Amino acid sequence: MEKRQELYAGKAKSVYTTDDPDLLVLNFRDDTSAFDGKKVESLARKGMVNNIFNAFIMERLQEAGIPTHFVKQLSNTESLVKKMQMIPVECVVRNIAAGGLVKRLGVEEGIALTPPTFELFLKNDEKGDPMINESLAETFGWATPEQLAKMKVLTFKVNHILKALFAEGDMLLVDYKLEFGVFKGEVVLGDEFSPDGCRLWDANTREKLDKDRFRQGLGGVIEAYEEVGRRLGITFPA
Ligand code: C5P
Repeated sequence: MEKRQELYAGKAKSVYTTDDPDLLVLNFRDDTSAFDGKKVESLARKGMVNNIFNAFIMERLQEAGIPTHFVKQLSNTESLVKKMQMIPVECVVRNIAAGGLVKRLGVEEGIALTPPTFELFLKNDEKGDPMINESLAETFGWATPEQLAKMKVLTFKVNHILKALFAEGDMLLVDYKLEFGVFKGEVVLGDEFSPDGCRLWDANTREKLDKDRFRQGLGGVIEAYEEVGRRLGITFPA
């Protein structure tokens, strides 16, 4: 697939057009950002690790019946995806209290959330990705009620699939963020699924194995990401 021109450069990935108008190339970079782009660093191997990790997860989700934009992995840092119209709404499910929920509500980190929570955020760095709801999304035209309903069902289905997958590697899926888009009229999962966009804890020690290591300056960020992959049976190139 011929990569043509850069369409868009996000905080961690760049998107390129291809000679097929329905397909794009995602290039996973080593750039790592947190706090709406206020903390930025380049972490060696991150682009490769996240690209390979994301390909593995997207394939598992597709096998389980989740429609995704993922087509195939092209190289260590690049994947081919379907060109969707992105829905600017982030869906977050939480199984265990951490991060923004703890900050916002003052609940204790680590408590089990039963049933798991579902939250919506507007994808807008300048505004700090504010929390929104279905009513606001509909009124401002960010997503239709039908799209929101589909996104919610798919986000919970992903929870069911991935909680079990990570449990096999002795990990707890604490929370995660998903983004969706529309491809040929269908709501499909977009963006990426990697330790950059979820929280994963060791099931026994509750050691953090995700981007919180970067956010909180704990070190060993990529080592943790590779450990997560290794526990799922993924091998990364040297
Ligand atoms: O910060 P907060 O606790 O609300 O994040 C919930 C989950 O969503 C975390 O796993 C976090 O990594 C992810 N997230 C993300 N991108 C954002 C906001 C949250 O990947 N812009």
